[in-house]
Amino acid sequence: MSDKPSKDFHENITDRLRPDGRKPDDFRPIRIEVGVIKRADGSAYVEFGKTRVVAAVYGPEPMHPRHLADPEKAVLICRYNMLPFSVEERKKPGPDRRSIEISKVVKDALSTVVVLEEFPKCMISVDMVVLEADAGTRVAALTAASLALADAGIPMREMISAIACGRANGQIVVDLTKEEEDAEDAVDVPVAMSSLTKRISLLQMDGDLTIEEFEAILDKASKSCVKIHAMQRDALLKKYKKEGEEVDIDGEY
Ligand code: CDP
Repeated sequence: MSDKPSKDFHENITDRLRPDGRKPDDFRPIRIEVGVIKRADGSAYVEFGKTRVVAAVYGPEPMHPRHLADPEKAVLICRYNMLPFSVEERKKPGPDRRSIEISKVVKDALSTVVVLEEFPKCMISVDMVVLEADAGTRVAALTAASLALADAGIPMREMISAIACGRANGQIVVDLTKEEEDAEDAVDVPVAMSSLTKRISLLQMDGDLTIEEFEAILDKASKSCVKIHAMQRDALLKKYKKEGEEVDIDGEY
């Protein structure tokens, strides 16, 4: 990480509009729904602009094959996949290095909140499918997976919310598009944060940032995760709150 602020960094305090007309702190239009797949135990749909992801959860159920069962806790299986038509250049179906890496980082993040010890010898499967990709698919997938687990009634210490922030075209911005990720100076920083304790469970970075830029990105990511958490909560309440019922969950599930 270089310690010299980039020459464009201070331009960020101006509200110069981004290529799609957003201000630096604006999300793309976000849609979040819970319970979209009838046959799964839990499911969710998350849309950040043109990035659209579905997550479905099965379990807890007895581990199969049995010899892979953990006598102390459930095994969490996470599979991230992009559909061939989700990207500009048709993608070869099936897993690749990138999807294996994303599946792993999503699993690592979710493992920090799911109470796996409650289900020894069991497995919990989380499938995340990218229907359409315009950057930020891993954070959309993680946001959806966290909701799908909650929808399946799987005990979690807290909810995980995620967003990609970063630098593009000389500005520190929230929720980058693919066009912004392709900018010459672009640095993409996907961040996942738990709602209550503000613990970071995913933080990745490509490129080179000053400490000042990095701190500004973390600050924006933290504020964004709080907003996304409120939307996740609303989506859960929309499905589970009975008409006329007063619910006071204060951010807790
Ligand atoms: O999607 P995310 O930002 O989490 O991960 P990435 O590896 O940084 O990918 C950024 C974007 O590149 C994806 O969201 C897609 O829009 C695009 N992409 C693509 O067009 N073709 C691929 N095979 C992989 C990614």
